[in-house]
Amino acid sequence: MKLSELDGRLLALRSAAREVRDPTAADETLAYLLRLLETREVRSVLEIGAAEGLTSCALLSASKATLTAIELSGERAERARAHFEEFGFSSRAVLHEGDAGEILPLLQGEYDLIFLDGPKVQYRRYLPDCKRLLRVGGVLVSDDVLLFGWVRGEPPKKRKMLAEHLREYLNMLEEDADFKTEILPIAEGLAVSEKLR
Ligand SMILES: C[S@@+](CC[C@H](N)C(=O)[O-])C[C@H]1O[C@@H](n2cnc3c(N)ncnc32)[C@H](O)[C@@H]1O
Repeated sequence: MKLSELDGRLLALRSAAREVRDPTAADETLAYLLRLLETREVRSVLEIGAAEGLTSCALLSASKATLTAIELSGERAERARAHFEEFGFSSRAVLHEGDAGEILPLLQGEYDLIFLDGPKVQYRRYLPDCKRLLRVGGVLVSDDVLLFGWVRGEPPKKRKMLAEHLREYLNMLEEDADFKTEILPIAEGLAVSEKLR
C-alpha cells in the first residue's frame, strides 16, 4: 500500500501530528516502512515510542500483522488506543503504556519488524532486547539516527551528548556481525538492520 492510499482521516491526523512535539514519523519514513511490508513477510510488528499510534495504524492498514506498541505518555497512549478502536484495529494491536526500558525486558515472542522511535539516548540500552525479540530474517528500523546531520557532522554544543549516543548506537549495530545494517538518508536517518542469525 502506498502512503497516499491510506485512509483520509488517518492522513489528516498525521498532518496535525506533525505540528506537535515528538511528531509522527516523516512521510518518507512511513513510505519506507510500507514498502518493507510489501517486500517481506511481516506477521508481527513492535513499535517502541508509538505516540498516538498513527504509524501503528498505517502499518496495520497495510498488512494483516499484529502489532505491539509501547508508549510512555499516558495521554498519547490513550489517544493511540482510541485510534486503534476508531480504525478497527483493536483486535490486532496491544498497547503497553510505560517506560520501554522496563517493558522491553518483559516481552516475549518474535517480531518480524521492529520500529524503534522512542528516546534516542536509550537506543543503545534497548538494542539487546530488540535483538532478542527480532526473529532471524527480521528487520530493526531505527529512526532519526542521523539527526539533522549532527551525528556525522558537528552538533550544536547542547546536542553533543545526544549525537554521541547515536554514534555509539550506530557503531554497535555496524560492528554486530549478527546484523546487516544499512544507514539510509531517509528523513533524519534510518538504520535498517536485518538479523542474519
Ligand atoms: C517521535 S515520537 C514517536 C512517533 C511515532 N513512532 C509515530 O511515528 O507516530 C517518540 C515517542 O516516544 C515516547 N517515549 C519517550 N520516552 C519513552 C520511553 N522511555 N518509553 C516509551 N516511549 C517513550 C514519547 O512519549 C513519544 O511519543
